[in-house]
Amino acid sequence: MMGRYGGGVVPILVAVLMMLMTNLVVESRTLLVENNINIVSEEEEEEYLGTNGRRWAVLVAGSRGYDNYRHQADICHAYQILRKGGLKEENIIVFMYDDIAFNVENPRPGTIINKPNGQDVYAGVPKDYTGENCTAENFLAVILGNKSALSGGSGKVVDSGPDDRIFIYYADHGAAGVVGMPAGQDLYAKDLIQALKKKHEARAYKSMVFYLEACESGSMFEGLLPRNWSIYAITAANGEESSYAFYCPDDYPSPPSQYITCLGDIFSISWLEDSDLHYSGNETVGQQYKVIRRRTGYDYPLYSSHVMQFGDKKLRDDFLSVYMGATRLSTIPAAVAPNGDTFNIINHHHSRALTQAQASLVYFSQKYKRAAKGSDEEVEARRKLRDVEDGMGRVDGSMRHILRTLFGPNKNATEAFINLVRPTGQPLVDDWDRFKSLVRTYEEQCGRLSWYGRNYIRGIANLCNAGLTPHQMAAASAQACKSF
Ligand SMILES: *[C@@H]1O[C@H](CO)[C@@H](O)[C@H](O)[C@H]1NC(C)=O
Ligand SMILES: *[C@@H]1O[C@H](CO)[C@@H](O)[C@H](O)[C@H]1NC(C)=O
Ligand SMILES: *[C@@H]1O[C@H](CO)[C@@H](O)[C@H](O)[C@H]1NC(C)=O
Ligand SMILES: *[C@@H]1O[C@H](CO)[C@@H](O)[C@H](O)[C@H]1NC(C)=O
Ligand SMILES: *[C@@H]1O[C@H](CO)[C@@H](O)[C@H](O)[C@H]1NC(C)=O
Repeated sequence: MMGRYGGGVVPILVAVLMMLMTNLVVESRTLLVENNINIVSEEEEEEYLGTNGRRWAVLVAGSRGYDNYRHQADICHAYQILRKGGLKEENIIVFMYDDIAFNVENPRPGTIINKPNGQDVYAGVPKDYTGENCTAENFLAVILGNKSALSGGSGKVVDSGPDDRIFIYYADHGAAGVVGMPAGQDLYAKDLIQALKKKHEARAYKSMVFYLEACESGSMFEGLLPRNWSIYAITAANGEESSYAFYCPDDYPSPPSQYITCLGDIFSISWLEDSDLHYSGNETVGQQYKVIRRRTGYDYPLYSSHVMQFGDKKLRDDFLSVYMGATRLSTIPAAVAPNGDTFNIINHHHSRALTQAQASLVYFSQKYKRAAKGSDEEVEARRKLRDVEDGMGRVDGSMRHILRTLFGPNKNATEAFINLVRPTGQPLVDDWDRFKSLVRTYEEQCGRLSWYGRNYIRGIANLCNAGLTPHQMAAASAQACKSF
């Protein structure tokens, strides 16, 4: 988000420095929380789902790279909850790049954890769409149950009928109107909505719940998801703010000291840890929404985003077990701080979270900090940080150059334009095809936008709404980026 808030590179560097300096040492120990949990009976299941009803889930980690450890950790954790809840493996479809568990940086090879003293969540996770097969096209084909549109992967799709329930959960970086995928192009809001519309028109589900964690994730549904498709969606953030990473090094609570990356994201761990703790046959979707909203939105006043809800709010009355199955655990290990806080449920006024953009830098800053002074590793880490910094400077420069070309030198007008947000209920843009083509045109001239650079996508959306043509964009970006 930093770019849009005017300061460009400087706030990020300040944040990195703060991360390097804050050194809260936290002791943690494990406590077993006893839960009395009823087991859902087959009669109850049938009551929720109808005789022919089946449950389906699609889980998507949109990133790759060890610096993004947390997104795949969130997704694997979700898989474990759904399996324990009784969903069949053949009905859970997982998208993850799968470069974390066996990454050379992973201090515990072959495992992934999603909280400081959490258990492995990687074991058993199916490799449906990994590596180059983890694309937006495959994600949409899977939702639609269209095997002939698949390219690679296990071939599992949501082969659902009119009595079935579908749960979709996505975690990654996002920007205005887009979320990332680890291979290929970003997923645009309009393409996702088109797929959901087709699914609705095919009467291929009874109801659907969609959890979406990403920066600016509200923009994926705002003004786009109607109330009458039996789809209820909640997003980690509104359309113009960051979502936040959690369990980051040097923060509180921090991961075990060998981990130089964040383990989770606040919105995600809010529902995952809530589902770990509660009997989902007795908690409604709406109750979980409130838990998520509180933890994501109010518990960490300085690092909070607004959890948003879209679509058919009647589905809030459904029990979670309709979508996620009913957990049958009787004891769940919870992380407990020295002052007695359990990380799962208590307010932590002293906790810190990081924006998704800051979280990606943690890895580089940790490498730098941990390298021996004067070593090759230190030089290399310093170089990487500089590269990131230079990349950010370049995109700030080129975007402002383009806007000046188009608007003249009034700096205030340019800033206002970059930040302009349309009124609630209106989608980001009206002409999605031209919007996509403007982004593509910019990238052809100036290089692929990083997640920092994608903060300017809202500016491009606003240019689109103001009528800019791809031809004008090509000319302005060629000018701005000719020296790169
Ligand atoms: C499935 O995808 C293929 C290839 O994209 C397309 O031609 C076909 O129309 C799709 N089928 C349905 C039922 O949407
Ligand atoms: C992609 O899918 C194809 C076909 O199923 C498979 O052979 C290949 O190994 C997959 N690639 C990865 C990286 O999983
Ligand atoms: C759903 O609502 C839209 C207006 O938001 C309306 O145009 C459409 O006809 C409705 N569809 C159904 C199936 O009721
Ligand atoms: C389920 O909820 C009902 C009503 O809120 C409550 O009376 C009951 O004790 C709960 N059962 C369990 C197992 O939590
Ligand atoms: C720009 O904004 C600043 C602060 O709001 C104001 O002082 C200044 O007059 C504005 N300049 C122009 C050219 O509008």
